[in-house]
Amino acid sequence: MSHDPHIYDPTFVQQLFDEMAGTYGFVNMVTSFGFSRRWRHRCVAEIEIPKSSQVVDLMTGMGELCPSVAPRVGDRGNLIAIDISPVMCQRAKRYENGNLACPVQVLQADALESDLPTASADVVLSSFGLKTFSAEQIEKLAEEVHRILKPNGCFSFVEISVPPSRWLRAPYMFYLKKIIPILGWLFMGSPDNYRLLGIYTNLFRNCEEACRAFQTAGLHAETQSYFFGCATGIVGHRPASS
Ligand SMILES: C[S@@+](CC[C@H](N)C(=O)[O-])C[C@H]1O[C@@H](n2cnc3c(N)ncnc32)[C@H](O)[C@@H]1O
Repeated sequence: MSHDPHIYDPTFVQQLFDEMAGTYGFVNMVTSFGFSRRWRHRCVAEIEIPKSSQVVDLMTGMGELCPSVAPRVGDRGNLIAIDISPVMCQRAKRYENGNLACPVQVLQADALESDLPTASADVVLSSFGLKTFSAEQIEKLAEEVHRILKPNGCFSFVEISVPPSRWLRAPYMFYLKKIIPILGWLFMGSPDNYRLLGIYTNLFRNCEEACRAFQTAGLHAETQSYFFGCATGIVGHRPASS
C-alpha cells in the first residue's frame, strides 16, 4: 500500500500529537466505547509486574497506563513514562506529584533513542504507540526494548488493529477512517488528524510483523488478539541468555 513516508517522520508525529493533546483523551474514550480503556487494562494484566520494579511506559501519551500500573509497582519501585510530544508529556506530568501509588517520572524523548540505561527495566509497557512507526522503526524499537530490559524482564504492547474477519473489518475500518474524524471534529479536534490515525492503523494492520521484529531482536515474543482482532498485542520477555 503506498503512503507518504513523511508520516513516520518523528517531527511530524510529534507535531500531530502536540495538536491532538487537547482532545485525544476525551475523543479516544468516547469513540472507543470504553474499549481502549479495557485493552490498556489487558495490556497491563498480561504480565507480572513485581513490587518495587522499574517499569518503563513507552509512548505514554498523557500517562493513560500510569494509574493501573502504579499500584502493582508500589512506592519502592519506579515508573518512567516516555513520550516524544512535549504537550502530551505536560499532561502526563500530572502523575509526577505523588498522587499515584509509585513514583512517576515523565521524560520527553524519542523512544527509539532514549537515554535509558542498558538493562535497567524489569518491565516495558506500551499502549497504542506502535502504529506511528514504520517497519524499520519498529525493528529499531524492538532492539531498544531488548537493550533497556534486564534479562528475564518482560514487556507488553497493545495496538488498535485491522480485524481479520472481513465482516468486522469493513464496518470497523469505516468507523475508524470516516466516523471518528467527524466525532473528533465535533469534539473540537482536527478531523484530518483523526483521519490520519485511521490511515496509520490501516498501514500497521496488526502486531504480527512487529512480533517478528521483536523475536529477531532476541526477545521471546508472542501475539495476543483482543475482541476478534480489533486490537492486538505483543507479550514476552528478554531471555536470560540473550
Ligand atoms: C495514540 S497515542 C497513545 C497514548 C497512550 N499510550 C494511550 O494509551 O492512549 C501515541 C503516543 O505515542 C507518542 N509517540 C509517537 N512516536 C513516538 C516516539 N518515537 N517516541 C516517543 N513517543 C512517541 C505520541 O506522541 C503519542 O502521545
